[in-house]
Amino acid sequence: MTKNIKLNAWVEEMVALCQPDKVYWCDGSEDEYNRMTDLLVKKGSFLKLNKSKRPNSFYAVSDPTDVARVEDRTYICSSKEEDAGPTNNWMEPKEMKIILKDLFNGSMRGRTMYVIPFSMGPIGSPISQIGVELSDSPYVVCSMRIMTRIGTKVLDHLGEQGAFVPCLHSVGSPLEDGKQDVPWPCNSIKYIVHFPEERAIWSYGSGYGGNALLGKKCFALRIASVMARDEGWLAEHMLILGITSPEGKKKYIAAAFPSACGKTNLAMMTPTLPGWKIETIGDDIAWMKFGTDGRLYAINPEAGFFGVAPGTSMHTNPNAMLSLTENAIFTNVALTEDKDVWWDGMTDEKPLHLMDWLRRDWTPSLQKPAAHPNARFTAPAKQCPVMDAAWEDPAGVPISAILFGGRRGSVIPLVHEAMDWNHGVFIGSMIASETTAAAAGAVGQLRHDPFAMLPFCGYNMADYFRHWVDMGTKTTTDKLPSMFYVNWFRKNEQGEFMWPGYGDNIRVLKWIFERTEGVENYSEIPFGKIPNISAIDVHGLDISDETLHQLFNVSHEQVLQEIDEIKSYYSKFGKHIPKELLEQADKLVQRAK
Ligand code: OXD
Ligand code: MN
Repeated sequence: MTKNIKLNAWVEEMVALCQPDKVYWCDGSEDEYNRMTDLLVKKGSFLKLNKSKRPNSFYAVSDPTDVARVEDRTYICSSKEEDAGPTNNWMEPKEMKIILKDLFNGSMRGRTMYVIPFSMGPIGSPISQIGVELSDSPYVVCSMRIMTRIGTKVLDHLGEQGAFVPCLHSVGSPLEDGKQDVPWPCNSIKYIVHFPEERAIWSYGSGYGGNALLGKKCFALRIASVMARDEGWLAEHMLILGITSPEGKKKYIAAAFPSACGKTNLAMMTPTLPGWKIETIGDDIAWMKFGTDGRLYAINPEAGFFGVAPGTSMHTNPNAMLSLTENAIFTNVALTEDKDVWWDGMTDEKPLHLMDWLRRDWTPSLQKPAAHPNARFTAPAKQCPVMDAAWEDPAGVPISAILFGGRRGSVIPLVHEAMDWNHGVFIGSMIASETTAAAAGAVGQLRHDPFAMLPFCGYNMADYFRHWVDMGTKTTTDKLPSMFYVNWFRKNEQGEFMWPGYGDNIRVLKWIFERTEGVENYSEIPFGKIPNISAIDVHGLDISDETLHQLFNVSHEQVLQEIDEIKSYYSKFGKHIPKELLEQADKLVQRAK
């Protein structure tokens, strides 16, 4: 219980609506976590992994229909449709509340309602925020304990009067009339709903992380982006990393990439260039505020990683692998005979026999994936061997550069730098990327994903562009981070990736680092500033000059086509598009002439 009057009143109201059998206030202790995982094992939702291989770790498989974020079921219910904008699903808040109240009515019968007080960001940081999730899923409780800071310490900080974001979650599977529970309860009807003006979240029908761990996408991005707009800060789908040069100079970089485009890999990369060091602040979300010195400071509001497992290996991301050796939860990966986990790409040699994510026998000869492409690991950030010493610093870390990126097989060069802040905002708005398995729907289709925020912006995307333009006027130009667009995914005519990526991305980060130091090692193309070819350090890399040139080659037609494309995209937003961005498009045309 709490002394917070608003919280007690809200819990009481939601108990009356959802009618759980019991209400349990989470204290966040280790003992509580152990009781919760025991309960999940007893229910058949968790399988305890081999403790000599992966201590205190658990394996879960979801209902096969509940494996990813459901963007078509995600709503921004502002009072005016225009405020949600053309890229969000919208419904009038009162109308949506009627639907939701009907669905939540009795939705927790036969279950326990868990009250999960959580802090996004270090408790007490001036950038942090508090939320309280009510959920009928013990899987959510365990995951929230890894992904955020939960429990009594949060309630203590909240006090009697503190403000919190109410986050209601139900899997939508009441246990009434003797109905037997299943390992992964959910409902075919799903609603992931945000009320930005009320700053409230209602999520129904799914147990999948992005839909059910409400601190993450729902709060830290959709609701926080609205708070950030109103209060003059930024809530972004960005990793944060620390980069140290061989001379010992350290800077911090934030980088926005769409889901499943390698943010976790970049955030904890092992550089292939000697002497360079990368350390992790966060791998998915950045909250950034101006400090008193006029610089932009970022925190990672999360406390864990909810990463895509397939493709993660000791070659591609050893630090992620080392973060998962204990105290982790794995969802929709495959299970080995000796009760450990495996996923496609984890080892060069495939195991001879597995149970796949659909609980079927699997052998390599089947030639099909053993894990779901969006299978996930959930692990405490503090287990990552390269966490930055400042990762929990309540003041955040000063950002020197902001990167934008996406999966683009062609057109976009390996790296280019914006001419100035507004050009950087233009570049962020220009991100387009091939869709991945992180969201339900077709994979591999090119779509606009401005700032990698398309599924996560809690208001009109064009007003969000305006907010970015405005942020650039809040300090002096020399204090603003420089902005860059990177593309690790460019392909040659044979359809092969031209850039090795992973640890070799340090070669691009090195140039970016040098640019933030003012080194004049660039030339200009219509898109912006690109490195002089000699400025990309290719020592020890087997890459031909021709490939290197190709990585930066953009034809005149491609530039013009890209401008036409972005202009037609902007036209969706009507008068909301800031004139500064239209000017940037015109300037690009001028530069291309
Ligand atoms: C994620 C996502 O889980 O972007 O981070 O889908
Ligand atoms: Mn993400």
